[in-house]
Amino acid sequence: MSDHHTDTGATAPRPGTHHRRRFLQGLVATAGAAALPALTPPTAQAVTAPTAFHGLHQAGVTTPQQPSGLFAAFDVHAPDRAALEKLFRGLTARARALTTAGTEDTGGMLGPHPAPDRLTVTVGVGASLFDHRYGLADRKPRGLTPMRAFPHDRLDAGRCHGDLSLQLCADHRDTVLAAFRDLTRHLGAAVTARWSIDGFLNPPRPTGVQRNLMGFKDGIENPDPASPADMDRFVWVTDAGQEPAWAVGGTYQVVRIIRMHLEPWDRMNRLQQEHGFGRRKDTGAPLSGLRERDTPDYTGDPHGNITPLDSHARLANPRTPETDHQRILRRGYNYDHGLDHTATHDLGVAFCCYQKDIQRQYEPIQTRLDGERLATVLTPIGGGYFYTLPGVRSATDWYASTLLTTPAPRP
Ligand code: HEM
Repeated sequence: MSDHHTDTGATAPRPGTHHRRRFLQGLVATAGAAALPALTPPTAQAVTAPTAFHGLHQAGVTTPQQPSGLFAAFDVHAPDRAALEKLFRGLTARARALTTAGTEDTGGMLGPHPAPDRLTVTVGVGASLFDHRYGLADRKPRGLTPMRAFPHDRLDAGRCHGDLSLQLCADHRDTVLAAFRDLTRHLGAAVTARWSIDGFLNPPRPTGVQRNLMGFKDGIENPDPASPADMDRFVWVTDAGQEPAWAVGGTYQVVRIIRMHLEPWDRMNRLQQEHGFGRRKDTGAPLSGLRERDTPDYTGDPHGNITPLDSHARLANPRTPETDHQRILRRGYNYDHGLDHTATHDLGVAFCCYQKDIQRQYEPIQTRLDGERLATVLTPIGGGYFYTLPGVRSATDWYASTLLTTPAPRP
């Protein structure tokens, strides 16, 4: 299958913010495209090539994970289908300009020579977009539902769901922020922001994948984003038999805002923590292994004497033939919201994962994790399920073109 983006790679998951805000009516997109390299002054940072924008799939899924990320969700107020199309066309023009030429016209936050900075813009739609407003009910992706509430969730309604979702990732935080301001300004009054959360990846300490805010290496195990076979098996919707034909090339995104309770966590000793994740804290290795990338041995440990049966990694992926199809591509970020109103530090993960079927992949994993020993120190407080649209295929194509231009199936 293919014609995938040339980009790939990935790491683990984590996010932040959200205010209900109506943005000013947007201005007309100015997709500039001046070549940058000759103009770009020398900096301490290597100038990286832009991530390809056009393709069968959107960038930002299999793209090697950039250190800065932001997830946001919006309510759409476009009055009719034509206005919805205009919204997606405008969003496409701005995303194309920002990711390929780095142009932003929101006050010059990035100075006179903004670079693409490996920015990716990944656009999704929530189940609510398929209600009565735009006549799209008959073409809703089969598995697109509102995010379920799981037993340990303490969901804040203001930080859940949305008609439209954005994921912005780049090598630097200011690039992500400038892109977010630019895009929301251009979306204008056609949308209201419901929530957003921004996050970061840590540097390797000392090597390998980054550590989350509990100090554990996070992002080790994933299907291989560089493998089209893995991605077609676990991530991309490839088959028009199961989903509406317009959806081929897309994927389902789950975002979960998960707060960590670090006071009780800090009181646990290292062994308790390692039994919680089922991984070594120093090396990230499975408890049955020595190195970060070693494969855990659960069959030789059926009673969980080495790796507890209710440890996070073992429950998430017990490595049995029955659970083999349940793999997900995790791509989240750490978040730090500073002190909350009780002076407790609000830290956690903007968990994000991609899969071709939420009900067959994410939900069974999440259901098993309801019984994990770490459930007392992790509280999901928000997020949503979204359908990441198929890629923008050419300079004349636009997000959601297949969704909005396919004739409605008539019974
Ligand atoms: C704050 C929340 C979470 C934290 C801190 C966390 C942390 C970790 C860590 C440290 C690992 C082991 C290292 C690795 O393979 O990356 C791991 C593995 C994993 N986690 Fe999470 N995780 C969180 C939430 C979730 C959620 C919500 C899911 C899905 C429902 C999930 C699914 C997985 C999976 C599938 C693996 C790989 C297991 C394997 O293949 O061996 N995690 N997580």
